[in-house]
Amino acid sequence: MDSNQFRKEAHKLVDWMADYLEEVEDYPVKPDVEPGDISRQLPESAPEESEPFEDMFEDFEEIIMPGMTHWESPYFMGYFPANKSYPSVLAEMLTATLGAQCMSWLTSPAATELEERMMEWLRDLIGLPETFTGVIEDTASTSTLCALLMAREQVTDFQVNEHGFSGDQKHTVYCSSETHSSIEKGVKIAGFGRQNLRKIAVDETFAMKPEALEKAIRQDLEKGCNPTAVVATIGTTGSTAIDPLEEIANICSKYDVFLHVDAAYAGTALLLPEKRWMNEGIEHADSFVFNPHKWMFTNFDCSAFYVQDEALLVRTFEIMPEYLKTPEDQRVKNYRDWGIPLGRRFRALKLWFVMRSFGVEGLQNKIRHHIRLAEDLTNKIEEHKEFELLAPVPLNTICFRFHPPYISDEQKLDELNEKLLNQIQESGKVFLTHTKLEDRYTIRIVLGNTNLEHHHVEKAWQFIQDRAGNLIE
Ligand SMILES: Cc1ncc(COP(=O)(O)O)c(C=O)c1O
Repeated sequence: MDSNQFRKEAHKLVDWMADYLEEVEDYPVKPDVEPGDISRQLPESAPEESEPFEDMFEDFEEIIMPGMTHWESPYFMGYFPANKSYPSVLAEMLTATLGAQCMSWLTSPAATELEERMMEWLRDLIGLPETFTGVIEDTASTSTLCALLMAREQVTDFQVNEHGFSGDQKHTVYCSSETHSSIEKGVKIAGFGRQNLRKIAVDETFAMKPEALEKAIRQDLEKGCNPTAVVATIGTTGSTAIDPLEEIANICSKYDVFLHVDAAYAGTALLLPEKRWMNEGIEHADSFVFNPHKWMFTNFDCSAFYVQDEALLVRTFEIMPEYLKTPEDQRVKNYRDWGIPLGRRFRALKLWFVMRSFGVEGLQNKIRHHIRLAEDLTNKIEEHKEFELLAPVPLNTICFRFHPPYISDEQKLDELNEKLLNQIQESGKVFLTHTKLEDRYTIRIVLGNTNLEHHHVEKAWQFIQDRAGNLIE
């Protein structure tokens, strides 16, 4: 492909992209495919000879598109969204075109300095104290792993980096029973050992019980363990429960334990001053993560990781082979030492475009709009005689189940709701997901997609009621 053809095809693709985004709500949100349906249509090996772009694009439309789940559809209300926006997509086009690998200042000075400034903008927007410094990682899983590795090196005075874990002492990590699975994964990878992760009980709002945390730390101390890190969550994956940060932070200070805060999804809501209560006590945390790639209209991937002790972070990850040394090393940030991979994408550009294109007010308006849509639907579910809420709704995730009054058997209710969710999923009309809360099968609906409007929520809610009604007829 030469430059002329690239120009021609790129123009066509932009039209395709704009059409797709205008029409995405008309697509079945989940594809009607079985495992293997796509791979069966793909050749088993790469072509020997060049193929025309038209053929590739035709296959994209005929093989790939029918197998896509449409995360951008307003009817995608499952998991947490990975929403995006036009300015973010445009930035990603430029990023791909520049093809810069931003591992150090020298390899892309503008990327490094823009990242630095964007992390400051974001920090101020979500009300983090100025003592925090940020870096963009790929995902919250990576950010949390970095935090756990920092905690490990802090508590062992960098000895694990040097010699690996030694001796019999166990280093324990604490999170609630509702915490995201990435914490357990991080604990495994960082070498703490899964057996040394304590899942602390939650209260009726599914938030960590601070008194249970303190008890667990004391018990571990009595057993000769070394309590090393606590992960508190602002907005759990199941139901967006908010762990009581201030109380948890006090316990961490008392026992000298590293505190990491996972606000992967809900962090975006901190752009709203009225939601800052969720973060009270954050000044005592050692690190904090939130993902603009979930709810802040910025394409996947973009995870904002903040730390109080920049030197600890860099010392945990720094490595300096001869071939990476540059004359500016003492005067600049080399983000390759702020995380796990050496190579780094230019992610700050899309944040810059998103924040400038929306403006703070525009971002706040959209987030408030999503929260209002959720309040409205929450009221409807609460008032409905055959549905029930299963958790508080502090933001825009609603946990509920279908519960006709004449069914009281919990197992039957679980089966009924699982059937309901499967039918909704198979319809391709709305995409919802589930969790278990207090061992009950719980349907989740998350209202955070970029172009979500009241009529989409109305239509989805009507569809859920109709399907539920059909189930018991
Ligand atoms: C609370 C929480 N933490 C962490 C994660 C993991 O996010 P990522 O996919 O960026 O690793 C999620 C994902 O939904 C989450 O909800």
